[in-house]
Amino acid sequence: MKKFSVTIAGGGSTYTPGIVLLMLDNLDKFPVRQIKLYDNDEARQKIVADACEILIKERAPEIEFVATTDPETGFSDIDFVMAHIRVGKYEMRELDEKIPLKYGLVGQETCGPGGIAYGMRSIGGVIEMVDYMEKYSPNAWMLNYSNPAAIVAEATRRLRPNSKILNICDMPIGIEARMAKILGLSSRKEMNIRYYGLNHFGWWTDIRDQEGNDLMPQLIEHVQENGYDVGIHSDGSWQRTFQAAKDTQALDPKTLPNTYLKYYFFPNQEVEHSDPNYTRANMVIDGREKNVFSECNRIVEAGTSEGTTLKAGDHASYIIDLARAIAYNTHERMLLIVENKGAISNFDETAMVEVPCVVGANGPEPLTQGEIPRFQKGLMEQQVAVEKLVVEAWMEQSYQKLWQALTLSRTVPNAEVAKQVLDELIEANKAYWPELH
Ligand code: NAD
Ligand code: G6P
Ligand code: MN
Repeated sequence: MKKFSVTIAGGGSTYTPGIVLLMLDNLDKFPVRQIKLYDNDEARQKIVADACEILIKERAPEIEFVATTDPETGFSDIDFVMAHIRVGKYEMRELDEKIPLKYGLVGQETCGPGGIAYGMRSIGGVIEMVDYMEKYSPNAWMLNYSNPAAIVAEATRRLRPNSKILNICDMPIGIEARMAKILGLSSRKEMNIRYYGLNHFGWWTDIRDQEGNDLMPQLIEHVQENGYDVGIHSDGSWQRTFQAAKDTQALDPKTLPNTYLKYYFFPNQEVEHSDPNYTRANMVIDGREKNVFSECNRIVEAGTSEGTTLKAGDHASYIIDLARAIAYNTHERMLLIVENKGAISNFDETAMVEVPCVVGANGPEPLTQGEIPRFQKGLMEQQVAVEKLVVEAWMEQSYQKLWQALTLSRTVPNAEVAKQVLDELIEANKAYWPELH
């Protein structure tokens, strides 16, 4: 059986140990001969890499392990790149969230002005990795979940249309896990779903069990009462997000919404619930980053992972599913961000949409979702125009187009405040954005 060589790009990510452990847990399903970590921040990656080296040595010593900041070493002799970079790191995420909030606007990692700012940073970083992969391992596939995935996906469509890159998000997967819990199913894989939208901007229209029974009524009843709250613990801000799905769902009671729609439907509530001095970035720095990094340090000091609190990123198992689908032509049905090309029949052919796809050795085959209603179509046309304008602004270094993008976002009330936020974001992102004219 062929064994695969995998690069995790953004090796210093808080998610890296979870993915390494997940791979180590699944070697029977997805055999691995080599794991490489690649990052452009050597010091940050070293913390994670030294701990991963111990995890691998203890559990699967036959696997070769490399941690590098050198692109040639990082991208040579590989079959898959699992990419989760954060250009500008948490320091810039904090500004993406705090600058809009100063103007009373949603301050969020992937939605509204913050997402646009992050997109302008990510495009260059992701394109650079695609180029390294194609130069050093031309047959490899990139499984990308670097955010903001919608903008990154549009950028790769425009700039590298023939590249083997698949863009995927874990939010629908996390929500489906909650749906399975509501239904008393042991796995989300027992459901067959229909879904359409953009990344962080979509709706389930149909959910059935293996026998074809309609599960929507039971799910809708639960969501109308509790949102996606299923009584399992998640931290405070996520808890609120899962509950907020109740209000979002009311806009179209026959479907089930992605949690991220709340930022577009109820931006004022989001702003009211935000602390402009302590945003989600601060919570992640004081929570996930602190926990993962201190545990990595502890493992390295002890020289053993015995008793570790690091866990296989269970909800990240979709990444192995995706790699397996390509490697073994499994034809698993998965939600991916792909060029529309008629999957949504009354929507822009060139939009990057999120729809179920059958995934095999040649990549994804999108499943037709048919016509969508006027409400969703209107919202999605507006949002997809924002995403396309951001990519064009990056390509043409156009101030004008970026101002238009901000003005068009549902989270921004007028062109005047759009310009004020834009000017402040330009200052803050000088080291990362192309210069705009
Ligand atoms: P993190 O900051 O902990 O890790 C990101 C790493 O990327 C850092 O070590 C950083 O040095 C590195 N990096 C930045 N720019 C780089 C470049 N140009 N080349 C190589 N490495 C670079 O971030 P995190 O919280 O662990 O999240 C990682 C990414 O995964 C983010 O983009 C996040 O939004 C994304 N994410 C996406 C989904 C999804 O649904 N698609 C889910 C979870 C996380
Ligand atoms: C979900 C989304 C990701 C996003 C993450 C943020 O998983 O699908 O796209 O990056 O949430 O989580 P955080 O804990 O970093 O705020
Ligand atoms: Mn996502």
